[in-house]
Amino acid sequence: MYKKYHIWTIGCQMNVADSRQLASRLESLGLTEVAKAGEADVIVLNTCVVRQQPEDKARNRLNSLKPLKLSRGDNLVIALMGCMVGKKEAETLPDEFPFVDFFLEPSKPDLLVDFLRAKGGDALLPVAEDLEDYRLPDGEENAVCAFVPITLGCSHVCSYCVIPYRRGPDRSRAPEVILKEVRALAAQGVKEITLLGQIVDRYGMELEEWNLAKLLRAVCQVDGLARVRFMTSHPAYMDEELITAVAEEPKLCPYFELPFQAGNNRVLQEMRRGYTREEYIRIVKSIREKVPDAGINTDIIVGYPTESEEEFMDTYRLLEELRLDVAHIAKYSPRPRTLSSQQEDDIPGEEKERRRVMLDQLVESILSEKNGRYPGRTVEVLVESFQEKTGRWRGRIPQGNLVFVEADGAMPLAGELVQVAITWAGPYSMIGTLQEKGDETV
Ligand code: 5AD
Repeated sequence: MYKKYHIWTIGCQMNVADSRQLASRLESLGLTEVAKAGEADVIVLNTCVVRQQPEDKARNRLNSLKPLKLSRGDNLVIALMGCMVGKKEAETLPDEFPFVDFFLEPSKPDLLVDFLRAKGGDALLPVAEDLEDYRLPDGEENAVCAFVPITLGCSHVCSYCVIPYRRGPDRSRAPEVILKEVRALAAQGVKEITLLGQIVDRYGMELEEWNLAKLLRAVCQVDGLARVRFMTSHPAYMDEELITAVAEEPKLCPYFELPFQAGNNRVLQEMRRGYTREEYIRIVKSIREKVPDAGINTDIIVGYPTESEEEFMDTYRLLEELRLDVAHIAKYSPRPRTLSSQQEDDIPGEEKERRRVMLDQLVESILSEKNGRYPGRTVEVLVESFQEKTGRWRGRIPQGNLVFVEADGAMPLAGELVQVAITWAGPYSMIGTLQEKGDETV
């Protein structure tokens, strides 16, 4: 009855992981993927509401599907998932979107599978229950990198953030289940695993004898993997044991995602972040002492309610002082039910934009300078894919920086760890030449 599916995804890595899980499940029911929504019997939108902009995008996309549903009726299933649905919104969304057949909360792909099986009856194949059978979906069977969620939900409740209301309190997946999934991915050729959580460092809080450092060390032992990463960290939960694990485990990349959000202590307190500027600086120092060449990414919010010019400049100066690698800079956006949404969104749009652009320019100058040290050096790149447009291979160094590799039409390189001599560096990527194997990393 249902033969073809199409999944549209926006938002964080957790959504990307959820979509891949769902695709795998749908294929075990016998469905195949199509690139165009108009050709699918099952259309799934995986949504993000962390700011107004992605939410508007998802609503527009959803509304654009209405005519399709009206013309195809029961022959088309439209499902909405992700943070737009969350744990509770399924109660109110059907009034707004009566043409949607099914609403499913984040990280619960089986709910849609059950729904389709109930509708499709015997026409659908049995679903593989065992995660050992977890198969990468078609079209992704050569994936080099994969995300594996380990901590679901979030209990920290920052004043501005809608995620806890949509994904619920945090809970850790069982280590055996995670390791099974990682082994299944490695057996299918995946070389790099990134363990995911909204606050990934809280992994194992409710499990005896497990924490993130121990889980990462166990994942590093899985045969076939070249690299392991984890994200996103929270400064109040990252500990020395974790930093030590990164320093010691050769496969654990020297790479941290550690948002500071604001560089001023009053604003940090208003945000309920649970640390001070000084504590953040101390953690970065500790990372750099133990892992000298670490890549450290951060997120920043500008224009939080009542943030003064001077307070914003504290954020600017913190980034300038710490010289972090990349910043995702977001303009504050009030979100339903959050604490800060009770306050007036009093920083005008143009002012938020001015602050964003200032930080953006600072990031660009820091990254230009930092990447400027690479030309002439040889680095290790895990190659992910080929770029038809430029004829170069695309991959990353352990610190996360993007590298395009010129290989003179050499053998397929996807999935290979190669040595690359860097010839050019810009703020957001570098170009280099493939070296003969066996070259020393400088
Ligand atoms: N407004 C703007 N940015 C936000 N983020 C989270 N909530 C909001 C909000 N209400 C940003 C944070 C977070 C990233 C995923 O999105 O910087 O780290």
